[in-house]
Amino acid sequence: MLNNHNKKLIIANWKMHKLISTAEKFVTNFSKHEISNVCDIVLCPPATLLQLVNEKFLNSSIKVGAQDCSAFSAIEGAFTGDISAEMLSDIGCEYVIIGHSERRKYHQESNALIKNKIINAHQANLTAIICVGETLQQREEGSYKQVISSALADSLPSTSNITNIVIAYEPVWAIGTGRTATIEQIEEMHQFLSKETLSRFAFSPKIIYGGSVNLENAQAILDISNVSGLLVGGASLDPEIFHKIIKIAER
Ligand code: PGA
Repeated sequence: MLNNHNKKLIIANWKMHKLISTAEKFVTNFSKHEISNVCDIVLCPPATLLQLVNEKFLNSSIKVGAQDCSAFSAIEGAFTGDISAEMLSDIGCEYVIIGHSERRKYHQESNALIKNKIINAHQANLTAIICVGETLQQREEGSYKQVISSALADSLPSTSNITNIVIAYEPVWAIGTGRTATIEQIEEMHQFLSKETLSRFAFSPKIIYGGSVNLENAQAILDISNVSGLLVGGASLDPEIFHKIIKIAER
């Protein structure tokens, strides 16, 4: 079964940015724009702002996602500092980013741990946005496809289906660096990811691109076949810029 790739998915990853005051400013300004149903829009603020953002967009088509969830229980337990997938669902999240390269790097997250997180997300009916990508060294060594293939093999649980996972291809060397992958590189990797998931699960989920997406490159990236949307970091912090990226995706 093939996914309907026509409806683009545009996700804002705010990372560890914004306080209540600046988030309120964002939602107030962002809400001034008419947001149609042409694309699926997901805002992923830090956990402290999930409720605020969710409440603001309750009656709109904009969805809310978290940036991480606990690997240890889908529900609750003695895991200080963790937030469970059920808690995220309870607060109104429909999505959760899992396995972002910054979590892999700064929290030593392994594919095995990421797999547990995805299973927990699925138990709470969340769609897992699973990030995969190679480092510059892995790209230069030529092992990048192997790295991605192993990440999929070792982290995707059997609970995955066409609607409860989204794969985000995010080359580590393109994140926050201003250095975007070339059109050819993105096309090659999205085709590769599509084939890999198809052979592994007999379906191909939405595969979105992330890494220094901005107003200048969004259109060209969205035009690539097998690119179902964007995971936008830095450029999603400004409501005007993020809205313009959505408008580009709506074309
Ligand atoms: P960036 O971040 O757009 O700032 O490169 C993307 C991401 O890490 O999700």
